[in-house]
Amino acid sequence: MTYDNSLIKKVEELESLILRKECDYEFNDEDAYEFWYYINEKSGYFNEDNAKFACGASKFCLVPHKEDFVIKIPFSSLWIEGRYDGEDYIEGDYASLIDYCQLECDNYKKAKENFPGAEKFLAETRHLYSGDLEIYIQDKADGYYEFYDENGSIDEVIEFSNSDKLKSVINSGAGSRIPAHWFEDLLNYGLINDEMNAVNSFLDFLMKTKINDLCERNVGYINGKPVLFDYSGWYGPEGSDWVAF
Ligand SMILES: Nc1ncnc2c1ncn2[C@@H]1O[C@H](COP(=O)(O)OP(=O)(O)OP(=O)(O)O)[C@@H](O)[C@H]1O
Ligand SMILES: [Mg+2]
Repeated sequence: MTYDNSLIKKVEELESLILRKECDYEFNDEDAYEFWYYINEKSGYFNEDNAKFACGASKFCLVPHKEDFVIKIPFSSLWIEGRYDGEDYIEGDYASLIDYCQLECDNYKKAKENFPGAEKFLAETRHLYSGDLEIYIQDKADGYYEFYDENGSIDEVIEFSNSDKLKSVINSGAGSRIPAHWFEDLLNYGLINDEMNAVNSFLDFLMKTKINDLCERNVGYINGKPVLFDYSGWYGPEGSDWVAF
């Protein structure tokens, strides 16, 4: 990713817009669009002319049109739905989050050090700015979105693999469903570019690091190469359907 020092000024402005927002909003996925509308209106740089906005459950993400990076900021709270725990009802509440962007930095480092070659299939994440918010930068990928019809079970699609290893990657946790089309592209990339060792390293990394939440919203392509751009995994609240490793 390429950027110059003027980016720091832009993220400082971004930080102050998020922090100074005069409202009751929490910086979380529920209110993320409100933040984006506000930032879009007030920011000299992070507005619709220059960027688009995306988010998931744990990160705020700004995707500049003309740059080869994205800016990611971990949300500072998460709304956890109320639920029954046996007999008792536990009220919904905001929970403070671990820093899922820092987890991406850690996992990138882990991949590079312990699974050489695996990092080729991860959009690189770096810590960019430390203030009242921690702000991160990551290689920009072209996303691919897969829409399912009501019969479109991904479990059917993965049957093309007879390898236990590949199956265990695909089934490595609740919510983990590597999109079959992307996975096929990954294997083809390895075969065509003589990079199967790197592909294997990447699969080892996913399994041994237990990266979950592998789904179509978390994968993309950089110059045609399949990459994973959300590799923090997801630590769901205890008792939810999500695996907390
Ligand atoms: N490197 C990237 N390149 C392009 N778009 C990205 C990139 N990283 C994130 N995005 C966009 O931002 C969204 C949120 O980012 P990310 O998936 O990392 O966050 P998250 O909150 O952890 O998501 P999840 O709900 O899957 O846990 C993505 O679904 C995608 O649309
Ligand atoms: Mg995601």
